[in-house]
Amino acid sequence: MLIVNGSPRKDGSTATLLEEAGRLAEEAGYSPQRLDLIDMNILPCHGCLRCKETGQCVLDDDMAKVYGMIEDADFVLMGSPVYFGDSTGLFKTFFDRWYALLSFSERKGVLYESRMQTDKKMAFVFPCGNIEGHILYHGLSIRYTSNICNLFGLLDVSSTIVPRKKNESDIMKSNQAQEFLTTFRSQL
Ligand SMILES: Cc1cc2nc3c(=O)[nH]c(=O)nc-3n(C[C@H](O)[C@H](O)[C@H](O)COP(=O)(O)O)c2cc1C
Repeated sequence: MLIVNGSPRKDGSTATLLEEAGRLAEEAGYSPQRLDLIDMNILPCHGCLRCKETGQCVLDDDMAKVYGMIEDADFVLMGSPVYFGDSTGLFKTFFDRWYALLSFSERKGVLYESRMQTDKKMAFVFPCGNIEGHILYHGLSIRYTSNICNLFGLLDVSSTIVPRKKNESDIMKSNQAQEFLTTFRSQL
């Protein structure tokens, strides 16, 4: 299992949620490996489309090894705090590079084929400060799951927005934190 922290804070609410999920995964027999994007050299996608010709990204950075880790993982769990209604720039930069994992399709009416195994499982978690974030940012959640499901052809994908509870700094006290862990456990 690959766990990706898209928060610049390595001990913030995203990390807390990912750690709790990682513990459940270990109990279920997985060996989670965590990446903190803030520690990595990940360049923005240059949009050159060379990956569509060669199947490989031309950029020489830490993504070279991450592509292999994504390929090897049977489960990828990703988290990012909500920044201005979206994922962090750090996370978006990382996720844009997943474009290299799609090839142009020759099938009529189909734009892309996935270069990934479609039996891979995925989960996203997006903590946020707004107590109504699970309503406000529902679209963000859907955007990531639909990208993964529709473009990459994966079936077992979940996404949860986790707002902070009113006057509560501990993200684990949020109802949606428990919802996230329940959903994640059901995917293991
Ligand atoms: C630059 C920035 C922008 C933010 N924008 C939002 C936002 O639009 N909506 C929201 O609910 N919270 C927003 N927040 C709050 C974070 O999402 C929240 O504190 C989150 O729990 C931080 O996660 P972390 O501890 O893993 O870094 C923002 C925080 C920062 C630093």
